[in-house]
Amino acid sequence: ELGGLEEDDGTQLVGFDDEEYRLSEREEDEGLGSLSDIDDLASTFSKVSGEIPATPDNQSVRTTYSGPLGSGEIEVKEEEEEQVVTPWEVGSGGGGKIDYDKLISKFGCQKLDPNLISRVEQLTSRPPHVFLRRGVFFAHRDFNEILDAYQKGDKFYLYTGRGPSSEALHLGHLIPFMFTKYLQDAFKVPLVIQLTDDEKCMWKKNLSVEESKRLARENAKDIIACGFDINRTFIFSNFGYMGGAFYENVVRVASCVSFNQVRGIFGFSPEDHIGKIGFPPVQAVPSFPTSFPHLFSGRDNPRCLIPCAIDQDPYFRMTRDVAPRIKYQKPALIESLFFPALQGESGKMSASDPNSAIYVTDSKNDIKKKINRHAFSGGQDSLENQRKYGANLEVDIPVKYLSFFLEDDAELEHIKKEYGAGRMLTGEVKSRLIEVLTEMVMRHREARSAVTDEMVDEFMAVRPLPGMFD
Ligand code: TYM
Ligand code: TRP
Repeated sequence: ELGGLEEDDGTQLVGFDDEEYRLSEREEDEGLGSLSDIDDLASTFSKVSGEIPATPDNQSVRTTYSGPLGSGEIEVKEEEEEQVVTPWEVGSGGGGKIDYDKLISKFGCQKLDPNLISRVEQLTSRPPHVFLRRGVFFAHRDFNEILDAYQKGDKFYLYTGRGPSSEALHLGHLIPFMFTKYLQDAFKVPLVIQLTDDEKCMWKKNLSVEESKRLARENAKDIIACGFDINRTFIFSNFGYMGGAFYENVVRVASCVSFNQVRGIFGFSPEDHIGKIGFPPVQAVPSFPTSFPHLFSGRDNPRCLIPCAIDQDPYFRMTRDVAPRIKYQKPALIESLFFPALQGESGKMSASDPNSAIYVTDSKNDIKKKINRHAFSGGQDSLENQRKYGANLEVDIPVKYLSFFLEDDAELEHIKKEYGAGRMLTGEVKSRLIEVLTEMVMRHREARSAVTDEMVDEFMAVRPLPGMFD
């Protein structure tokens, strides 16, 4: 259930994209097992929206509750229809598509217009990445200023990250990393990659510190397999690196943000443990070059550009708000859509449901089975109807996936036209998608198997990167 805030039985889905976590949080944190009366339940409902301050006017409705303490009717806030996008939860609410235009205006970022894309093309003298051409990266904050500065000869650095919550990455996770690799090559700039092993420990019940550190190293291998340049890339885990100048910046940022503010931005509640509430500054400070004295000391304050999916925007809204108060430059952002779940576009591909996701470790056969069985099709239910009416491309997941990963513009147009008109069938489109994804995943698996523990150590070594701006 990626789409809604609430399951049929009244279970509240909160905060994080792992099912086990939701259940355990419900039982342990929310204390539903020991509720003494229905008022407690109502307050439970109203507090877990995870919305930024400009929250919609929710309607109050009667809802039936049935649980361990019996059943009854209570008044709760109606939030099902409202889409929710936080770093821990993504859903369109009503089961329809995520409305990205609405997200842009609600978050206050800017649309990435064609004019900026042609500027990238000119400045880098190479064709824009397919993710730019197709609008996968669709929103930004101050990206134009990064380009202005670059044009004048000022360099910038890239920052992105990963919360190591699972053994392997899925295709959705690859998107920011593939795009970051392109930016690094095209602009020839340094890159820092944060592995938030601390964050995942605090958000995921039963994930020990040791296990989280192990997952961070495993995930680093998948990240390195994307092809980053060791001479321009520093990968760090928070457990390993946080201290020194980095931690000084954490304290500077933390001192500027009140509990009410993080609650407004991230949807924390008074019952959340203090580790969560205190975490956002840790994700904020890699945006500041002074957090990396081994890379940037003596450099002229390069600006920071953060590629990520738009679920991470709350962290950087906070960062940008604080930056001028501690006399730092605001980071710029370039933000992507979510790669949707196999089941459809109301949610993002997420690690919580193995059937919603294709992992970079999946075999040829896994990919084939998942696409054939689970990829939501906009095709008609019979051959006759398909020939007559054609497929509904708006809801078709195979076409959507091809628009992310099939590089050939002409072939993509051809498929859309033929499939939409009923001359092509779902099976044919799926089999083309299976080819494209298998090729990509096999290439990734091969690259990953060549990544050794020594290479991980080298990427994660605290060291200067002498030629990083050349
Ligand atoms: P994490 O590990 O949840 O996700 C890593 C990156 O992948 C993006 N992402 C997706 N992109 C497209 N489609 C999807 N279905 C999808 N699912 C995840 C995320 O937006 C992210 O860019 N707290 C962060 C780690 C982090 C970070 C950062 C991310 C620390 N600093 C700076 C971006 C920028 C996390 O747990 O990401
Ligand atoms: N918070 C992200 C997650 O839950 C990981 C992350 C850390 C990140 N730093 C980042 C993502 C910078 C994008 C950019 O996975």
